[in-house]
Amino acid sequence: MRNRKHERGSAVTAALLSLALVILVVVTVWCFREPAWRPPAPITEIGKAVDHQYDLTLAVTATVFILSQLGLALAVFIFRDKGTRAHFTRGNNTMEFLWTSATIILFLGLGIMGRKAWADTRFTEPQSDAIQVEVTANQFVFNFRYAGPDGKFGRLDPKLISASTGNPLGIDPADPAGKDDIVVPTLTVPVDHQVELLIRSQDVIHNFFVRELRLQQDAVPGMMIPLHFTANTIGQYEIVCTQLCGLGHYRMRSVLNVVSAADYDKFLKDQAAAQ
Ligand code: CUA
Repeated sequence: MRNRKHERGSAVTAALLSLALVILVVVTVWCFREPAWRPPAPITEIGKAVDHQYDLTLAVTATVFILSQLGLALAVFIFRDKGTRAHFTRGNNTMEFLWTSATIILFLGLGIMGRKAWADTRFTEPQSDAIQVEVTANQFVFNFRYAGPDGKFGRLDPKLISASTGNPLGIDPADPAGKDDIVVPTLTVPVDHQVELLIRSQDVIHNFFVRELRLQQDAVPGMMIPLHFTANTIGQYEIVCTQLCGLGHYRMRSVLNVVSAADYDKFLKDQAAAQ
């Protein structure tokens, strides 16, 4: 058998692959910087903190992404097949230890820094004058219940749930506290006033998500999950379910109306008259 001399690989192939990596980096950075693809401005103070945390995380991960991909492009070109024999390496334990530790510190650090904005809406007491609204998700609608003039929610009985007879939540007619409860398919809240949502589900796991609030919370059967926020901009915003909850998931949405205090009082009066 003849031993032929090993030939050099093509520098063009290596150069093209490196170029493809550089293009990938440029396109990715452009996608993230494109203003049309940025989320709408937040309408809560907590939303600003969430955005700040998002930008920080993005800056850190983008730096790592850009450096590592450009490094890869460089390595692809420099270490292309030059006709010499490749040699085996067992790796470098010190380097392994360093970059694993750096990754752990980075991700734990970002997690700890982001914790406050998340916890502020969940683990702090709402203000004493916060308006309570119960949010009930089911396949595939949201229902919002206000306590009415007495300020008390009526008792619920799952056996009485009947959307077709106008009692989707199963409010017990025997409980006087439930007589004035208001149940509506959209959420209306006053501007600059704290609202506490009490989030529930009647069947599977759903999710309450409003981009502009920067709030996203699962609705879990058997649990009542409180969440509070103060919206600071009058307007209409979309509420969507962001858990794949069944065939009708794609159409499970509602509307958040942030209105003036006067309009909110009018809304309560109109709804009380209509119930
Ligand atoms: Cu409910 Cu998706």
